[in-house]
Amino acid sequence: MEHDSSRSGYHEPKPEQVGREENDWENEDLHDDDLRPIVVNLIWAQARSTDGREGAIGVGGGMPWYLPEDLKHFKSLTISHPVIMGRKTWESLSEKRRPLPNRDNIVISSNPQYRASGATVVDSMEAALDLARQESIPDDGIERNELWVIGGGQVFADALPYAHRVFVTDIDAEVAADVFAPDIEQLVRDGQWRRVSETGWMQPKQVSPKIKAIAKLGTVHANQAQHTAGGTTSETQDPQPVAIRGYRFVDYERTDPQSVRQAMI
Ligand SMILES: NC(=O)c1ccc[n+]([C@@H]2O[C@H](COP(=O)([O-])OP(=O)(O)OC[C@H]3O[C@@H](n4cnc5c(N)ncnc54)[C@H](OP(=O)(O)O)[C@@H]3O)[C@@H](O)[C@H]2O)c1
Repeated sequence: MEHDSSRSGYHEPKPEQVGREENDWENEDLHDDDLRPIVVNLIWAQARSTDGREGAIGVGGGMPWYLPEDLKHFKSLTISHPVIMGRKTWESLSEKRRPLPNRDNIVISSNPQYRASGATVVDSMEAALDLARQESIPDDGIERNELWVIGGGQVFADALPYAHRVFVTDIDAEVAADVFAPDIEQLVRDGQWRRVSETGWMQPKQVSPKIKAIAKLGTVHANQAQHTAGGTTSETQDPQPVAIRGYRFVDYERTDPQSVRQAMI
């Protein structure tokens, strides 16, 4: 496991801290790395797969679409906070885009030898959640009152029991997909989660061909993936971008905040 040496160690509450009055938390004897609450947010963008399944988020190790408005939204929410991602999502970022700047990048891998330059590698979701709330010394300017789990499918499924809020960009498009997000709408129907807010449907702005070409570095377009999935990768056919009819932002929260699982390591 790779650790960032600038971080302080995590400590369980001292026995004498148990049962203290609420305003004791302002006691100057407390250190920055004492146990503190942290809000766990999940964020993803999803569309419908070509076979009609909702929650499509990835294909061929990349994103099935390129939507700059979503990337801007993602950045505005996650900036200055810790971000937790799976090893495959880390590898899906182009080398120029990783680590995600002005965020504490934490990567989960079961491989103890795995290195991710500019990020800290841990071996479990619990270790990632624990690390995310530890202040670094000296102060790195990262705000550890909340963290963002940014994918992919395996990590979203692991993180959901710990999540307070989920932020979904709903994309109206059909895409080739091999990775899916948790079915958050089913959880709403089951009464475990509720929609807090949603924007209306918005139209994506036109993207210039030059920007599209750059975007291909970190994006797998739908028909390129279909060729690859069928074992008939065509080098002659230029991949076409996915047709996005609209997008909207939908925010969810748990109906019972007490049901959030606490990370115990
Ligand atoms: N649309 C979106 O918003 C969005 C967001 C993010 C990603 N994506 C897409 O999602 C896809 C990647 O998702 P994915 O599900 O295939 O992979 P992933 O969740 O990104 O990464 C999976 C890997 O993370 C490690 N890992 C995860 N949980 C672990 C645990 N509990 N303990 C130890 N290691 C753990 C393992 O790495 P090792 O194999 O090294 O052990 C595992 O193979 C890509 O296509 C990406 O583009 C989409």
